[in-house]
Amino acid sequence: MSTVEKDFDRLALLDSGGWTQNNHYHDFLLRHVPQDCTHALEIGCGTGAFSRRLAQRAQRVTAIDLSSEMIRVARSRSSQLSNLDFEVADLMSRDFPAENFDCIATIATLHHLPLRPALLKSIDTLRPGGVLLVLDLFETESNLLKLSGARDAMLNAVAAGVSVSLRFIHNGRLKPPREVRAAWEEHGKTDSYPTLDQIRTLAAEIAPGAKVTRHLLWRYSLIWQKPEARLNQMI
Ligand SMILES: C[S@@+](CC[C@H](N)C(=O)[O-])C[C@H]1O[C@@H](n2cnc3c(N)ncnc32)[C@H](O)[C@@H]1O
Repeated sequence: MSTVEKDFDRLALLDSGGWTQNNHYHDFLLRHVPQDCTHALEIGCGTGAFSRRLAQRAQRVTAIDLSSEMIRVARSRSSQLSNLDFEVADLMSRDFPAENFDCIATIATLHHLPLRPALLKSIDTLRPGGVLLVLDLFETESNLLKLSGARDAMLNAVAAGVSVSLRFIHNGRLKPPREVRAAWEEHGKTDSYPTLDQIRTLAAEIAPGAKVTRHLLWRYSLIWQKPEARLNQMI
């Protein structure tokens, strides 16, 4: 079993379903789900909070996750939704038909995967006209001698204040419980993130026209509509 799988099996048991820095952006992502979405895919669905919301917008949702514990909890929280299927699967070894989904969403997951192959695989199984929705973490600039480092330090301080306030408003506490913090700290030791420049450069190459946005709570979004078939052949 990989470290990532073990970490998330542990984290699944600690998930209380409250406010998080990821679900804070669910409404933003849902605004980009195409109308008449027939089949949506979520990659790295965790305990399925976004999958359940997607299932209210799409006729059918397939949600995959590497962690069997995440999928067990996701299924137990979703029994009322008959158009939502969960599956234990690793994106990189799961074969999907080409041009299969109208919408593919992934939240806080791509940084666990090789970014370019994972995005290319997602793009391949997205239908022309379909929409890719990515929310993930990025590396901020830590060198305070650079202008971007000073700006990031200031934004980090604002983000920390906003995050603590929102957690208190929604979850009634300033910090996650001790055991949750310990599990995330352990997991964080193996986490690494691309920079925004790396994400923008890659997006320009493989998903031209993608909109990459920096969000306050240490996340970026990448929203991209795959060109319709005729346009696709021209690029
Ligand atoms: C930080 S969690 C985010 C979960 C959920 N998207 C959320 O926003 O709460 C990342 C998830 O990605 C899953 N994951 C990591 N690598 C994966 C892979 N190769 N294929 C599928 N899921 C993966 C993990 O098991 C974990 O549940």
